[in-house]
Amino acid sequence: MSESSRIKADFIVHNLASAVLFPEPYRGQGTVPSWRTEELKNASVAAKEGVIVWVGPSARLSAEVQIEADARFYNGCGMTAVPGFVDSHTHLVYAGDRSDEFEMRVQGRSYLDILAAGGGILRTTEAIRNMPEELILVETLDRIEQIMRTGVTTVEIKTGYGLDLENELKMLRVIDRLKEESLIRIIPTFMGAHAIPADRRSDPDAFVDEICKVWIPEVARLELAMFNDVFTENKAFSVQQSRRILEAGLANGLRAKIHADEVNVLGGVDLAVELGAVSADHLLMTGDAGIAKLKGSGVIPTVLPGTSTYLMESHHAPARKMIEACLPLAIASDHNPGSCQFLGATIIQALAMLQLRLSASEALIAGTLHAAHALGFGDQIGAIEPGRRMDLALFAGDSFRQIGYQAGASRVEALIVGGVVAIDQF
Ligand code: NIG
Ligand code: FE
Repeated sequence: MSESSRIKADFIVHNLASAVLFPEPYRGQGTVPSWRTEELKNASVAAKEGVIVWVGPSARLSAEVQIEADARFYNGCGMTAVPGFVDSHTHLVYAGDRSDEFEMRVQGRSYLDILAAGGGILRTTEAIRNMPEELILVETLDRIEQIMRTGVTTVEIKTGYGLDLENELKMLRVIDRLKEESLIRIIPTFMGAHAIPADRRSDPDAFVDEICKVWIPEVARLELAMFNDVFTENKAFSVQQSRRILEAGLANGLRAKIHADEVNVLGGVDLAVELGAVSADHLLMTGDAGIAKLKGSGVIPTVLPGTSTYLMESHHAPARKMIEACLPLAIASDHNPGSCQFLGATIIQALAMLQLRLSASEALIAGTLHAAHALGFGDQIGAIEPGRRMDLALFAGDSFRQIGYQAGASRVEALIVGGVVAIDQF
């Protein structure tokens, strides 16, 4: 091959024991997801300006890739590269501690009862309102550091513990600053409709009105969020209220996400499909009708096995049925101070296998590529493929099957985000 026809690269991860490829990646609405993975042994991955340009056997690297004079190298000796995990549903910005509620739940009190009594989300709201912005930032950065060690390179973070305009904006500013202060990709979601504060309970519709007419336009004007999410549930927001909130977001350029069917089936899935939401999340109680509705809709069903485990539910989201119905199932952590303290990607990989009965390949694709689709980045991140960002999580050993097997204990040896080495333990 002539010098000029070879692909140019400025960053190379070479000498990997294995790189995990998705030969038929899901490419969005109208296409069928594939759950096939391929472990390419003795692999190298080359990038130019943070984007993957070549993946192949190390033996062919120098023949097929023109390595620029000032190129950087990372020796992946003895390691397996998987795509950086995408945690597409988190409430990572919060304050305070709800360990007493955890114990109450263990003794039989329900999550929604605790919320109705002024605990739960409302308790964290008090804590957020009282904590200085700088301290919230520092505490969240610590969590980001921890999830990076589990291989996360992109994380979505929701607001929803401010519950008035001033404090929702405070949370959005923290999320915005995380973009500068952390090395991974941060995706902000506005979730002013997370719970109804005690002082607004006498007139919830007026609260919804304010979210639609004042908060959402202001959030959009400041360009602080990409998505708009709502908790559609008894004791939170009805389907009608959710529709108004999500439509107000759409009118202001914020794509819709929804917490649907977590405790009760109210119609959140139908609403997600009707409004073309990017994802519908939780889906613990979703039945055959909901699955049929989701089919072909382009809405990414995102299930959260950490939450159903942490809430000690008697069953989990019908993930196997969703896979059988050819839905592009995604998984995420839902990390938050009340319903799920599991943190990071590796434990969620393990729980997806143990609780949802996913195979190691299914869990990996659901937590990377499909989760990327749940954020609208399904063609830019989430797989080791030319044209996508060079986001790699490197684990010791020659197979990704260790990740779930080690029940969440596995930690990365290296993390690469957009061609930048963010963690190097080697
Ligand atoms: O996704 N369900 C609503 N929101 C979160 C829980 C937030 C909290 O309890 O603080 C969830 O489970
Ligand atoms: Fe959530």
